[in-house]
Amino acid sequence: TVGLVLSDKVYVSRDGTVAEYGMLAKEDIEEGEVLFTIPRSALLHQGTTQISALLEREKRTLQSSSGWVPLLLTLLYEYTSTQSHWKPYLSLWTDFRKLDHPMFWSKEERDRLLRGTGIPEAVDRDLTNIQREYTDVVLPFITKHPDLWNPQVHTLERYTQLVAFVMAYSFQEPLEEDDDDEDEEEEETPNPPMMVPMADMLNHISNHNANLEFTPDSLKMVCVRPIHKGEEVFNTYGQMANWQLLHMYGFTEPYPSNSNDTADIPASNLYKALQSVECGFHWPQVEEKVEMLGQIMQDKGVFVFGKQGCLTDTDLHTALKVLSMSQDEFSEFKENEGWEEEEDDEDARICQAFSNEGLPELKAPWKRLLHEAARLTLRSYTDGDRRLMEDGAAVAKLSTRQRNALQVRHGQKDILYRLMELTTV
Ligand SMILES: *[C@@H]1O[C@H](CO)[C@@H](O)[C@H](O)[C@H]1NC(C)=O
Repeated sequence: TVGLVLSDKVYVSRDGTVAEYGMLAKEDIEEGEVLFTIPRSALLHQGTTQISALLEREKRTLQSSSGWVPLLLTLLYEYTSTQSHWKPYLSLWTDFRKLDHPMFWSKEERDRLLRGTGIPEAVDRDLTNIQREYTDVVLPFITKHPDLWNPQVHTLERYTQLVAFVMAYSFQEPLEEDDDDEDEEEEETPNPPMMVPMADMLNHISNHNANLEFTPDSLKMVCVRPIHKGEEVFNTYGQMANWQLLHMYGFTEPYPSNSNDTADIPASNLYKALQSVECGFHWPQVEEKVEMLGQIMQDKGVFVFGKQGCLTDTDLHTALKVLSMSQDEFSEFKENEGWEEEEDDEDARICQAFSNEGLPELKAPWKRLLHEAARLTLRSYTDGDRRLMEDGAAVAKLSTRQRNALQVRHGQKDILYRLMELTTV
């Protein structure tokens, strides 16, 4: 009745999927085939809800750093309205508490199971922001509109559950690419999230076989790789490391299948490594160098490593170059406020130098420093995962939370151990 067109080669099921609902192929499907088309009128967001006029009129008071408040107010309203046009859709989620994002674990459990992964810190930030947004923006607004919301029903707890729902199930339309705008200094505000019925039934893997396309009238799920009869249809939620999957969606890809897994090395560990080893660097201005690097890298306090090498290669290259400068070089660097324009092929060269193939060829002092930084980072995790991972019977006995946490930790440590091997001098 909402105009969704579903290919008869696919069906939604809870059996034979990796988790909960998923989509399966009834027949072989070829690349390029459209699996379903959703008209834009069937999407649920602040522009299609019953209360869209109010949200539009008041949009200035609903601004927040997340940009999610209008959608969350929409969901608070539609989820509890008996008249909701979206009732059949929303009734698929009978209990949002089943969403098992780490933000619903106890703090003690998060800190114990996920220490070192970056998730506890990310969740603490989320919870602070959610609470602030609810108290400062949402509560005053719903109190002003008692005909639509009730603070006794639309509580912070429910709001938090809906945040997890939006994290796990919403979609964001990509921004139009501006080709001729080469040096985009200002970051554009991303499109607000929206709920896309049917598309959100699909599970994610990094090596996906379907992809959502946005057109002016509709959204289409298109097959991007042949799918055989009986196989699950997988969308991609983006290139996601296991820590991001667990943080945002509450699941992980089993080790070692996530080709987009990553591990972070905090910049502070790179600086700490300077103290703990003989790296052959020039010590006198280390503090000043570290401060300057902090400014250059702004809030990006980590270096990210993927399975094929460093993903923040330019930052890492800058850091190593600055740290290893002689006094004269550093003075000149400061006077010039940076270095001369780089060659055109510089980016590609740096990317290669910090890939798994390039790392063993770096100069010895850089390798020593990276090796030590990886070693220091590994110390922030709990021990014993490698042994546990090899013990199939023990892994089978773990709870879902324990297993997900193990997948995240083990994947990250694996990347860090590999980095240590590649940088052994
Ligand atoms: C992410 O995974 C996809 C699919 O396996 C792969 O093509 C891509 O290169 C990966 N990206 C990174 C940064 O590892």
